[in-house]
Amino acid sequence: MAILEIKKYGNVVLRKKAEVILQIDANIKRLAYNMLETMYLVLGVGLAAPQIGMSVRLCVVDIDLSKRSPVIMINPTIISRDGSKILGKEGCLSFPGFYENVKRYEGIVVRYRDLNGEELEIKAQNLLARVVQHEVDHLDAKLFIDYLPEWKRRFVEKKVKSSRNAGNW
Ligand code: NI
Repeated sequence: MAILEIKKYGNVVLRKKAEVILQIDANIKRLAYNMLETMYLVLGVGLAAPQIGMSVRLCVVDIDLSKRSPVIMINPTIISRDGSKILGKEGCLSFPGFYENVKRYEGIVVRYRDLNGEELEIKAQNLLARVVQHEVDHLDAKLFIDYLPEWKRRFVEKKVKSSRNAGNW
């Protein structure tokens, strides 16, 4: 397995809609396991393929790093959303050091395929629901800062720019 480089905000791949995976072959499996290993190393709870430069509809999630019960999702689709939208602190591995409040649905149902190609559906609540919504957004080229009010988004962009100019991004 290998550790992959996480692409930071500003990289064009993060603004590209990811392709549907037609065949779950050895490359996809290797990619999924490498993404998991990378996510665990940086203590993330979710990672989407575009974040490591691969524009395909694959993401990995594990909200309890102590238990290590990863979910690998191929072509995930959120098929229903319920509850109200709730505000919660969110970060993104492509925005190191930034945490902002984002409104997300409290509960969702997501349908996806696992690495064996089996179609599964899970009902997710609270943190898991939040993380899945965040990761599926990545596959649609949407980022958590898109939910922020204009002034806040500009502020984040300005800070990213200065980090980049200082060579820290
Ligand atoms: Ni993210």
